[in-house]
Amino acid sequence: MSSARFAPAGPLRGWLRPPSDKSISHRAALIAAMGEGWTNIEGYLDAADTRSTLDAVRALGAEVYEEQLGEGEGIAGARGLQLRIRGVGLRNPKPAEIDVGNAGTLLRLLPGWLAGQSDGKWTLDGDESIRRRPVDRIAVPLREMGAALSAREDRLPPLEVRGASLRGITYEMPIASAQVKSCLLFAGLLADGETRVIEPAPSRNHTEEMLKAAGVSVRREEDANAVVIQPAEQLEPDDLLVPADISSAAFFLAAAVLVPESEVELQWVGVNPTRVGFLSILERMGATVERDKEAESGGEAIATLRVRSAPLQATEVKGAEIPLAIDELPLIALAACFAEGTTVIRDAEELRRKESDRIETVTAALRALGGKVEPTADGMVIEGTGGLRGGTIDSQGDHRIAMLGAVAGLASREGVEVVGMDAAAVSYPGFEADLASLLAR
Ligand code: S3P
Repeated sequence: MSSARFAPAGPLRGWLRPPSDKSISHRAALIAAMGEGWTNIEGYLDAADTRSTLDAVRALGAEVYEEQLGEGEGIAGARGLQLRIRGVGLRNPKPAEIDVGNAGTLLRLLPGWLAGQSDGKWTLDGDESIRRRPVDRIAVPLREMGAALSAREDRLPPLEVRGASLRGITYEMPIASAQVKSCLLFAGLLADGETRVIEPAPSRNHTEEMLKAAGVSVRREEDANAVVIQPAEQLEPDDLLVPADISSAAFFLAAAVLVPESEVELQWVGVNPTRVGFLSILERMGATVERDKEAESGGEAIATLRVRSAPLQATEVKGAEIPLAIDELPLIALAACFAEGTTVIRDAEELRRKESDRIETVTAALRALGGKVEPTADGMVIEGTGGLRGGTIDSQGDHRIAMLGAVAGLASREGVEVVGMDAAAVSYPGFEADLASLLAR
């Protein structure tokens, strides 16, 4: 485990293209593997989580050629890998034992595809953190469709999936989870009849967009907040350029807002409306985020974001806004420590089921740095004190907590030591170098 120290810093300046989107990368590899021909993916995220997905699709029988994109080689500055994937076909994945590593998205999405196979057996398992992450959220509706699954204590990995014939159902999700929705949409491809997934509030819609582009009939019923999918004979995935990940960009956006006199430009960032909750919350707190629309790729809007340091006011974050900012809520809690007034985050119990229990790990981290944070059953109450002293935090193996610690250090009075900084590589290898580049300019 590696530690790193982040000293109070002068302003962040300059521009950066953050690494590619993790959610889109996972889906792009899985959907390419379901196809029969070749799919090109430009700028696939080269990080531990999305490497797990490449290993998985290889184990299932897809052919994967990868090339590292050098600086300036990718289209529009794309970073990461240039991939060519030849799919195994929707109905032909080979039986395999899959190690998902730390990737919750792979753990929840892949079983949807496998459950509807005519035969075969697969097991999915992963690291210590994955073994604490519930799979009953997918097992319950998949079983209702006819799937044959078993899990440890009926709710935790390892998860075993056996092929079975599935029927389409209407499922009202008790939680707004894009992972559960995506899993059921994959299962719906192989079910008998249509599958209808009702969300309590809209969650990220990358799966819907990519399946549409692959020729699948999938539509949104806006009034019912439902997604309806028809079974498919075969998939013809589109080539894809993966935008930069707004969840990774968020660390620099937060750092620029919190460190006085900063001004940072983040290029080619995916700004799908189901992912930009963090931007609206920051703006409500008093920051200005300028967006210049750049392009669109595979139904995903892409923009350049520009942000400057600003004094912040407390806010309340709840309800339908939660799934739109779920992975950025730790950064909202950090920003709230610097704001004037008391910030309340509620309806976010799902934070307890991420790579760590993020209500506990964020509370522990911010308190260790001098923050005034009270955890609640479904969120946090943060009293703004205008700043943070600094100190030592432990990432608890959670990539987003590690990077939060780094940002806190730059904005703190005494600096922050992050124990377990290596966890950042789950979604963002090279994070420290990118941060240093914005401090050097
Ligand atoms: C993800 C969905 C979210 C998010 C996770 C990635 C995805 O999880 O927290 O980091 O790619 O679908 P839930 O859908 O379980 O909320």
